[in-house]
Amino acid sequence: MKRLTLLALALTAGAVSAAPKADINKGKEIATTICAACHAADGNSGIAMYPKIAGQHAAYTYQQTLDIKDGKRTNGSAAAMKPMVMSLSEQDIRDVSAYYAKQQAKPGEANPKEDVELGAKIYRGGIAEQKIPACMSCHGPAGAGMPAGGTELSGYPRLSGQHKAYIVEQMKAYKAGQRSNTIMADIAKRMSDEEVNAVANFIQGLH
Ligand code: HEC
Ligand code: HEC
Repeated sequence: MKRLTLLALALTAGAVSAAPKADINKGKEIATTICAACHAADGNSGIAMYPKIAGQHAAYTYQQTLDIKDGKRTNGSAAAMKPMVMSLSEQDIRDVSAYYAKQQAKPGEANPKEDVELGAKIYRGGIAEQKIPACMSCHGPAGAGMPAGGTELSGYPRLSGQHKAYIVEQMKAYKAGQRSNTIMADIAKRMSDEEVNAVANFIQGLH
């Protein structure tokens, strides 16, 4: 156990020294002056249209922010964010992503009037007959995701506590090919609106 921990530390240290360094104080400044208007200064946005980004893995926030800036992610309301991040450099985005990764995500709640049981079943076990894998297998049992997991350089994003309406919109975007990610497109295409609604409601309360 101890040896594993040391090995993990050594690997992490190696990865950090190879990558460009992030300045969290500079990131905080960018967050409070630019991002806070929509995502809140601590990333716990209270408005469903603006995703929560508190505690999100830095590599994922970095990639999505860059994609929105570069016009590679245009679905939903991304156009509202684009002009706000146009002037940021890659280093600025690295800094602000590191800042948000350090913020404490506040737990959300599922609506108990919806089919929470179906949502939990899909999240934890998938739907075998429709070849839908368990969301948990990539996004984690508590929705914490995985930094730089699998073959995706930006990892599996954290989902726990995310606004239900935002999740539903993203699943629609994957289904329609508006957000280009083959893993999620394949999954979303196999799901009915009812199933997406149920799992999104469950994720909103997951922590
Ligand atoms: C004018 C409002 C606005 C501002 C300011 C803004 N954003 Fe956004 N952001 C949005 C909206 C709206 C979305 C969701 C787009 C969609 O509908 O898919 C979004 C999405 C994101 C996402 C994707 C989240 C995910 O879970 O995939 C990230 C990351 C992000 N913003 C980071 C930032 C950062 C960092 C800043 C500051 C540098 C910022 N945003 C400033 C409105 C804004
Ligand atoms: C095989 C791994 C894998 C499985 C299984 C999986 N996901 Fe994902 N998911 C990903 C990856 C990778 C991304 C990031 C995609 C991108 O960059 O757009 C993602 C992104 C998402 C997003 C967008 C998050 C955001 O903040 O914008 C949502 C929502 C989501 N997944 C929901 C689900 C649900 C619901 C399930 C189960 C039905 C599921 N995922 C199963 C790998 C997976």
